[in-house]
Amino acid sequence: MNRKPKVGIIVSIEDDLEAQICAACDVYHIDPRIPRAELLEAVREAEGILLTPRVRADAEFFDAAPKLRVISTTSVGYDRFDIAEATRHGVVVCHTPGVLTAAVANLTLSMILALALKLFEAEPYVRSGGWARREPLPGLGMDIQGKTLGVIGFGRIGQEVTRRMQTLGMRTLWYDIFDQAPAGAPQSEYRPLNSLLAESDFVTLHTNLDEASYHLIGAAQLAMMKPTAFLINTARGPLVDQAALAQALQSGQIAGAALDVLESEPPDPDEPIVRLPNVICFPHIGSATVETRRAMRELAVRNLLAVLAGERPPAPVNPEVLGGGR
Ligand code: DGY
Repeated sequence: MNRKPKVGIIVSIEDDLEAQICAACDVYHIDPRIPRAELLEAVREAEGILLTPRVRADAEFFDAAPKLRVISTTSVGYDRFDIAEATRHGVVVCHTPGVLTAAVANLTLSMILALALKLFEAEPYVRSGGWARREPLPGLGMDIQGKTLGVIGFGRIGQEVTRRMQTLGMRTLWYDIFDQAPAGAPQSEYRPLNSLLAESDFVTLHTNLDEASYHLIGAAQLAMMKPTAFLINTARGPLVDQAALAQALQSGQIAGAALDVLESEPPDPDEPIVRLPNVICFPHIGSATVETRRAMRELAVRNLLAVLAGERPPAPVNPEVLGGGR
């Protein structure tokens, strides 16, 4: 009988998905809360690991797992994984693009509407006994039709947000590290970053986090935005210099923000930004629907099993490793 590859699971998954892995692999579980030294010990024999994007997979991690062939994350983001080190160690990294695009775009749309219509000010107003008059407190909202949306990051999610908001009558701009729109992207106007920031009524972030995009939006960029403009971040917290954003929100340099991600998650108990009156904040729920989370775990399992079977996985991050192995 063929020996089954050893797989460590550092994420909770449905029984039927675990059964699929068990059919082909020798499975063991690793508690994500164990100290780092224990985690490094636990991955020593693993040939495959199913994990969340919160696990830090760096040179030390790959050194500790000499038999590793694949790490498969139940997320599209992989900013805590050192891809160059994974490649150097012959480890395929896989992620879950596509299956969460609609969910994140829907959350972004909801956040834009909530800011524009002051939904999160009006709702507690009713709870505290208020009701609408002709000019209801806490003030009138704003139409989004005819307003300009600046989309930073014109990949799958940025494009889907563009489509949705164009349907609602917004004019859209986009910026990315490339300046030719990808094939199949919706018609939208390219702008260099500074021009996009200056022209937009709403700026929404949909770019990967890496060394180049860390603090892409800092004090200088916030100063370019209109005082009536809003910032929306459903991508990764460290894209924005959070202290500079808090400052810009407190001083009225920009009108408000909607944040699904923060520089540190969960935030420190005394983090001021989550309590500012012109901020609405959510606990990283971009992909948090039953159907989407299930689809992400299914894709992560397919990625894992494909690599271990010597096949091409549906969504590799570093496909150059495939075929090489170690
Ligand atoms: C992702 O898939 O990257 C989401 O942010 C969930 O972590």
